[in-house]
Amino acid sequence: MKEKLLEKFDELFKSDGTEKVYFAPGRVNLIGEHTDYNGGHVFPCALTIGTYGVARRRNDNKLMLYSMNFDGLGVIQCSVESLKYKKEDDWTNYPKGVIWALKEKGYTIDNGMDILFYGNIPNGSGLSSSASIEVLTGFICKDLYGLDIDNINIALTSQYSENNFNGVNCGIMDQFAIAMGKENRAIFLDTATLEYTYAPINLAGYKIVILNTNKKRGLGDSKYNERRSECEEALRRLKTKLPINSLGELTEEEFEKNRYLIGDEVMEKRAKHAVYENRRTIMAVEALKNNDIETFANLINQSGDSLREDYEVTGVELDTLVEEARKQQGVICARMTGAGFGGCAVSIIKTEAVESAIENVGKAYKEKIGYNADFYVVDIGNGPAIL
Ligand code: GLA
Repeated sequence: MKEKLLEKFDELFKSDGTEKVYFAPGRVNLIGEHTDYNGGHVFPCALTIGTYGVARRRNDNKLMLYSMNFDGLGVIQCSVESLKYKKEDDWTNYPKGVIWALKEKGYTIDNGMDILFYGNIPNGSGLSSSASIEVLTGFICKDLYGLDIDNINIALTSQYSENNFNGVNCGIMDQFAIAMGKENRAIFLDTATLEYTYAPINLAGYKIVILNTNKKRGLGDSKYNERRSECEEALRRLKTKLPINSLGELTEEEFEKNRYLIGDEVMEKRAKHAVYENRRTIMAVEALKNNDIETFANLINQSGDSLREDYEVTGVELDTLVEEARKQQGVICARMTGAGFGGCAVSIIKTEAVESAIENVGKAYKEKIGYNADFYVVDIGNGPAIL
């Protein structure tokens, strides 16, 4: 892989031996969905698939960006002195945004760079290919410009760029999971305080399998921002009586006692999901600690049902995949993961049942939806690295 990337870099930019190869993972969230902008908990992990980058500093201020995944777009060029979101700059708005955000935060980036990217996360799949590019860019800048920034602040800067440069109001989960990933561990993160612990994922006899609907989605054109505002409005109405800062501060009982304050059926459903999902996430991590895989799996299924019925972020493709997966022997849980509206589902499957489950679900999906789903048996990997 490294050789292939260096070869392509040489072809495009002429190697001088100073370029380095970097990697940042993608992520999958096990439970705690749409809680990160509601002050709740999340439980994601980094994957071993992700984004590679070959990069070096230039002597002028040009930023030369190329992706092997978007070969047809060629090298997209701009200056580090005037970084602006431009629709026609396509995927490069992600790295550009991070460099812009680093500068906004006071870091000095005065030279440009040549960067080649290559990702093996299917893009638009909800496995955070964009956050992976963002964190990778932050990590590359830290190394090439000697920036005094740790991985948590790389995550925060990446989120800042996504919010303020790319106009997507995402929470911190994706960037944090990618920047702080640890092999065979999921990250139990309190998004209200950024306190976190690592939880070993010892699913002896089981595999984590991701099911891709192959229905592309982009956060910008999804109803993501709309869900976020619905929760904010629900919170605003609850705050007329309750001294809270986020939905994540409520227990299920407190919510049930006060939900009348919201006074809108749809907003009540959204807020209910945020409150209950946060509590489910806390319980799921507890269950996992006690090696109670059955409870862990049940909570993941409940999360999926709530995202379908109350948060309404699934759709026929995700629903079909999840429903077919849950019918299979050996599949102990399945639910949508990430923002939703397409993208991927995550499931836990008994090792010996993985092959047949994939075959059966694939067949049923093709029959009902008309095109193929993809399946990945994944491993939990580390955060960004120099290779
Ligand atoms: C996207 C966002 C995250 C999070 C999830 C839903 O992945 O980038 O911040 O809100 O959706 O849990």
